[in-house]
Amino acid sequence: MTFVVWRNKLIQNRAISAGLKTKMSKEQENGTTQRSSLHGHWSSRFAFILAVTGSAVGLGNIWKFPYIAGQNGGGAFVLVYLVCVAVIGLPVMMSEILIGRRGRRNPIATMALLGEEEGSSGQWKWLGALGVVAGILILSYYSVIGGWTLAYIPKSISGAFTGASAADVEAIYAGFTGSWVSVTIAHTIFMAITVIVVARGVERGLERAVRVMVPALLVLMLVLLGYAATSGSFAEGINFMFTPNFDALTWDGVLQAMGQAFFTLSLGMGAIMAYGAYLPEETSITVASGSVVIADTIIAVLAGLVIFPLVFANGLDPAEGPGLVFVTLPLAFGQMGGGVFFGTVFFILLSFAAWTSALGLVEPGVAWVVERFGRSRTQAATMVGGTIWALGLGSVLSFNGLAEFTFLRGTIYQNVEYLTSNVMLPLGGLLIAIFAAWVMCRNSTSEELRGVGTSYKFWRFLTRYVAPAAILLVFLQAVGLID
Ligand code: PFF
Repeated sequence: MTFVVWRNKLIQNRAISAGLKTKMSKEQENGTTQRSSLHGHWSSRFAFILAVTGSAVGLGNIWKFPYIAGQNGGGAFVLVYLVCVAVIGLPVMMSEILIGRRGRRNPIATMALLGEEEGSSGQWKWLGALGVVAGILILSYYSVIGGWTLAYIPKSISGAFTGASAADVEAIYAGFTGSWVSVTIAHTIFMAITVIVVARGVERGLERAVRVMVPALLVLMLVLLGYAATSGSFAEGINFMFTPNFDALTWDGVLQAMGQAFFTLSLGMGAIMAYGAYLPEETSITVASGSVVIADTIIAVLAGLVIFPLVFANGLDPAEGPGLVFVTLPLAFGQMGGGVFFGTVFFILLSFAAWTSALGLVEPGVAWVVERFGRSRTQAATMVGGTIWALGLGSVLSFNGLAEFTFLRGTIYQNVEYLTSNVMLPLGGLLIAIFAAWVMCRNSTSEELRGVGTSYKFWRFLTRYVAPAAILLVFLQAVGLID
């Protein structure tokens, strides 16, 4: 899914020097607004929905959502997260797609082009630049956790979890993450695979393989749900997730719920804008965005419904943090029939999910180096990937050698995670909403959203007032500027 985008971008980058400038100036002469992408379009709406879902569904749904929900007391956090997905995530996703489709360029070029075309300024390109930096920083730790999922594949195959107790599984997790050598090796392998694919391209076969990944992941989550429902403390898990206890939620928790809504939907950093550039004119942005948001939310909620019953049944701590999934699920696999098989398949699928999201995270940086410095894709992928790898060592060491080295929000990993999800992505989202609903004129946006019917009015209201106000309010509350 992400591969389609990648391949298209490769073609785009090659074509840029050859034809883009001429094409742009012709468009400007003609004053046309309906551009065609230099590198084709998605074959169907379904292909687009799959592609965006592939980017959205990743570690954020299965690893991050349950652990930050656990750390923020469950129910109230989940409720705020769902509200943020609906009133901020959905309109911002529609905005990113419509901006992408209108510009039909990479995010930086699109922002510069539309900024000028809408009578504002080409300086909107800095919004694209914010996305490039956010992608690099996110991938620096995402790759470390992606490495953990890779490392858990051989662990599952070898039967390391079979019959293991909660204490055994926790010991395996602590032993693995406590060794900076093991985690560095896993991080290096994850990053290397990402760089090689970004540098060399992907065959059609892989693209097809990824097309089955999201449905397969969904089926496996349902199998696990069946297991958790029968052998976990299901009622307690449901209660934890759906009974809002607002005493347990701070304004910082609300900010984290909002950050998670951006993170899980891959919003606020131009990734979805890039996908929108290949969307055919006739496809409904509203329907496509709604489908992705629903699919992504279902997978995250399912992950919570699987994990929390297991947490309570085994006397684990829901606020345990990043290790939550790496402890609860192996425990379940170790006790269920066919656990070696299901465990192995699960971690393979999760690695795939992480990897397809990782390609989307690194691509803006690679595209920028290719265009800005005239490097080949291989050179650009190596340079950007190498930088991300080196930055990632800070996150590797946050779980072992430098675990005691804390400042501001905690370890290096905790700071990078907080800064990107809770500051950079919401800031990017705020600016995207402002651009789509205040800078772009009604004619432009209604053309992309097919007229000015109820859904358009609803989108414009949410994007113009609700989303910016909500983002600002949560920001200001969280930093303590207002009570
Ligand atoms: N949405 C991905 C996840 O939930 O794991 C993370 C992500 C991917 C964020 C791509 C941003 C992005 F551009």
